[in-house]
Amino acid sequence: MKILAVIAGRKNGNGEILTKAALMRAEELGAEVKMINLHDYTIKPCSGCESCTVKFTQKGEAPECVYKNKDDMDLIMKEWLAADGILVTVPAYSFMSAGIYRVFTDRFLAYEPNFHKQVGNQAFFRHRVGAIIGNGGSTHSWMSLTLESVNITLLSQDIKVVDQVMVNRAPRPGQVLLDEDLLNRAAHVGENLVIGIKNYENVTFLGDEKLGWCPNCHSNVLSLGEPLWNEAGFIIECPICHCGGDLEKDENGKWKFVIEQDGHRKSMLNGNGAKDHFFEIQDTMKKYFDNIGIIEKKCKKYTDYKPATIKK
Ligand SMILES: Cc1cc2nc3c(=O)[nH]c(=O)nc-3n(C[C@H](O)[C@H](O)[C@H](O)COP(=O)(O)O)c2cc1C
Repeated sequence: MKILAVIAGRKNGNGEILTKAALMRAEELGAEVKMINLHDYTIKPCSGCESCTVKFTQKGEAPECVYKNKDDMDLIMKEWLAADGILVTVPAYSFMSAGIYRVFTDRFLAYEPNFHKQVGNQAFFRHRVGAIIGNGGSTHSWMSLTLESVNITLLSQDIKVVDQVMVNRAPRPGQVLLDEDLLNRAAHVGENLVIGIKNYENVTFLGDEKLGWCPNCHSNVLSLGEPLWNEAGFIIECPICHCGGDLEKDENGKWKFVIEQDGHRKSMLNGNGAKDHFFEIQDTMKKYFDNIGIIEKKCKKYTDYKPATIKK
């Protein structure tokens, strides 16, 4: 039972302390734990070459990132993929997950489990559970996309998220130590990861059910539905787990998000959504390859145009 914790905050910061509280409990319960702070590793920003998506969807083959062995990403992902449980702890920066975590997750594309499954790569047919701690200096409204921006990255990694916690109003390093309940809650995250690992098939969300609007992924943001690539779409959709439905009033007159009967057909929680996205990319990229001559001809006007820039 292996747990990998990935931290995006300061060294010895609040996130590290909360993570250690979770890992100490998980270790007591028999887990083998590892912890990394992304600041200790070199992770190049994705070059945007899309060679991984082209290989997946146009050739039906498992790609390797062009940066493989050129930085520490593959080293981290080997552990990430071998873990039974993943804990991600990120500070809120500009309302969402800190950029270093985003740089890390942009590189996930070459390691997309449902895309690898689609091309038959057995290494990715593995069950993992996850948990998230989002910590910040302010209240929820200043951390509005923090948990959500991490949750979506774990869902696309085929990780069943069993717990999420938002830690507010702890700006200075170590400030979380003033709140014993918080440290206990973080320890509970470790416990929930262990429960999730031991009971993967049946486990459902073990965190606070009232965390957000979505009864599926517990995120706290909703979108008006938009047409999808191959169908009309939903009236209201969860932009994190991609389930769909509508708003309804409950018996107390309070609005709630109700998922429609077939509202899980694009869900990120069961692989449907990611698999569907594979075919969407396949379809959309085909248009490019079928029309490459037109694009090259039309492109000249734009490549020739050189607006003023900032001189270094
Ligand atoms: C660049 C920067 C941006 C920040 N933006 C936010 C924010 O939008 N909302 C918030 O609640 N806290 C924000 N904070 C505060 C951090 O989330 C807070 O200091 C947190 O405790 C850092 O976690 P760490 O100790 O694990 O590094 C910001 C801090 C920095 C350095």
